[in-house]
Amino acid sequence: MIASAIPAVPNIFKGREELVEQGVHILCQQSLRFLAILGAGGMGKTSLALHIMNATSVKDKFTGTCYFSPCELFEYAESLIQGLLHIMKLTMQENKSKHEVLFDHLQAACEDVLIVFDNFETPWNHDDSIAIKNLLEKVAQYEKVSLIVTMRGPDGPADIPWEKLGDQSGIPTLAPVPAKEAFKAFAGNKLQNSDESESQIDSLLHQLEYVPLAIRLSAQHVKRVPLKALIKMWEKDKISILTEPTKSGRLTSVSFSIELSIKIFKIEGRTLELLSALSFLPDGIPFWVENLDQMFPEEGLSVSFY
Ligand SMILES: Nc1ncnc2c1ncn2[C@@H]1O[C@H](COP(=O)(O)OP(=O)(O)OP(=O)(O)O)[C@@H](O)[C@H]1O
Ligand SMILES: [Mg+2]
Repeated sequence: MIASAIPAVPNIFKGREELVEQGVHILCQQSLRFLAILGAGGMGKTSLALHIMNATSVKDKFTGTCYFSPCELFEYAESLIQGLLHIMKLTMQENKSKHEVLFDHLQAACEDVLIVFDNFETPWNHDDSIAIKNLLEKVAQYEKVSLIVTMRGPDGPADIPWEKLGDQSGIPTLAPVPAKEAFKAFAGNKLQNSDESESQIDSLLHQLEYVPLAIRLSAQHVKRVPLKALIKMWEKDKISILTEPTKSGRLTSVSFSIELSIKIFKIEGRTLELLSALSFLPDGIPFWVENLDQMFPEEGLSVSFY
């Protein structure tokens, strides 16, 4: 289960040359051991970590000992440590706790070890005990250990001097040119070449704010729906083009697209609260056009259709 949750290094990966280079440079310095790749969902943090981890000079430094831990599987410190033992192929020993087995292994390491804690927001936000923080800080204490953490949000976890890629809010969205290259690569040969379609793609990508996941999900639709129709879908029902109809999961699901929409459409404050409340009503609000104003008289809610 853990092995199948480890993603392949993505083939289609555009516009991140500089960030990969910075990440590799940081990890290859003797004094810097902690790299944080932060930002909102779907920005490409995991993809970036995989590319950094697979760079030749990183492989040369961490000879054979790069571990990738898909932390979205681990909600608690206990399961995280169990997962680490599994990934490192360590077996339990008599009279030793899991922690001791892990820490003895890290203590005994002669070569540099790289551990990638991917999607660390899952245990970090879920396990509100001090155990996750303690575990991470203890792992970071071993001299031979370097860490990459990818996490949604602007701050790295625990009291660890992280080197962050990007700016204060994390890694940026793609620049327009690589975003378009990525869109075309994901769409494959279904795109016809014309000046009109070029400007349609430009406009769509602009509206998607160049977020990698949104680019991939929308490009998937071009395989089945002509670009013109896709743009109409976007104008009419923005969320539906940000889902992959045949699969479900963090990178394909409606719940993700809602989260992404919250970011893209800058839904916040009272509107976000209202949407959260509505999501608990099984049938929504009956006759909402008439009733919404009465339910929230002081909000002055306007009704918009799309
Ligand atoms: N530079 C890029 N060029 C093209 N596609 C990209 C790029 N970066 C990411 N993607 C694609 O975008 C999608 C989301 O990427 P990824 O899983 O790395 O994001 P994430 O920030 O880790 O998301 P989450 O916060 O949900 O973990 C993936 O399908 C990935 O292939
Ligand atoms: Mg990720």
